Amino acid sequence: MSSANSNTDKPLNLPQRPRRLRRTETLRKMVRETTLTVDDLIYPMFVMEGEGQKVEIASMPGCYRFSLDLLLKEIAEVSQLGINAIALFPVIPENQKDDTGTESYNPAGLVQTTVKAIKKAVPNIIVMTDVALDPFTTHGHDGLVDENGVILNDPTVEVLVKMALSQAEAGADFVAPSDMMDGRVGAIRQALDTEGYINVGILAYSAKYASAYYGPFRDALDSAPKFGDKKTYQMDAANSKEALKEVELDIAEGADIVMVKPALAYLDIIHQVKINTNLPVAAYNVSGEYAMIKAAAANGWIDEKKVILETLTSMKRAGADLILTYFAKEVALMLM
Ligand code: PBG
Repeated sequence: MSSANSNTDKPLNLPQRPRRLRRTETLRKMVRETTLTVDDLIYPMFVMEGEGQKVEIASMPGCYRFSLDLLLKEIAEVSQLGINAIALFPVIPENQKDDTGTESYNPAGLVQTTVKAIKKAVPNIIVMTDVALDPFTTHGHDGLVDENGVILNDPTVEVLVKMALSQAEAGADFVAPSDMMDGRVGAIRQALDTEGYINVGILAYSAKYASAYYGPFRDALDSAPKFGDKKTYQMDAANSKEALKEVELDIAEGADIVMVKPALAYLDIIHQVKINTNLPVAAYNVSGEYAMIKAAAANGWIDEKKVILETLTSMKRAGADLILTYFAKEVALMLM
């Protein structure tokens, strides 16, 4: 007996033939466990001062620092593509930086002005703002630093609270503390509630690792630390139980969404966090992960589109509900 589905007269007597379900694309689609959709994507975007500016980031080809006018155009386009949310990062000129990051809570600052303009121009898009001091400090750390170079926790939280409030005031839908100071989620939640911003959410960078994968992002913002590293506040790459502890704390303090960052080298963490919480779990497909794919693709070594989709699907499969990714626009186009 011969047909397309049998290629031998003497079939092995197998109780299971998993390949049966892989025979055609229709079948594969039917039994597929994970899907990636545009609803999963959050697009990180960079804003800079000026007008008519669109400057490509050298280590992140295809990503730009936009001045506000062009950013608004880009966001309108991104929204048309079905992307629901953006995460906003500012490029702060050197002369606006200081030791304590005071520009971060300037009501007329770059972030605050930009958020206001976005909410006016593209009201439907969800705007998430980064809460951390590194783009605003001369030393490039996410917190205040004492004379011995120690990153101070509680005084930093006070500044972060001011920053988050000014972003909420400007119209941010979510504030996203990415600094890893202890207690900041609770302090921000309390301040938001006290000031009446009960509907402003917190996307907590809960398990954020001290990672070498952030290099290109620090180029983009010119925010690399001027001394030392971030290992006294960001997590040790070797730890996973600690990630669960951080997530647990952030939930107790009032986080609405918890995040694991980076994503690709931390799929096991995403998975464990997903199992241990009922909140939506986000994963940050960070700048270095983006740059590696772009570099290999530029050399013709990998099939860029396929690798992007496979990579983001792996994050969903691991348990991510949401993915912050610089590929968001490209993927939205691919999925159309
Ligand atoms: C700032 C911040 C960083 C990233 C997001 N927010 C850099 C850092 O912690 O040094 C990295 C994002 C990326 O690499 O794509 N607190």
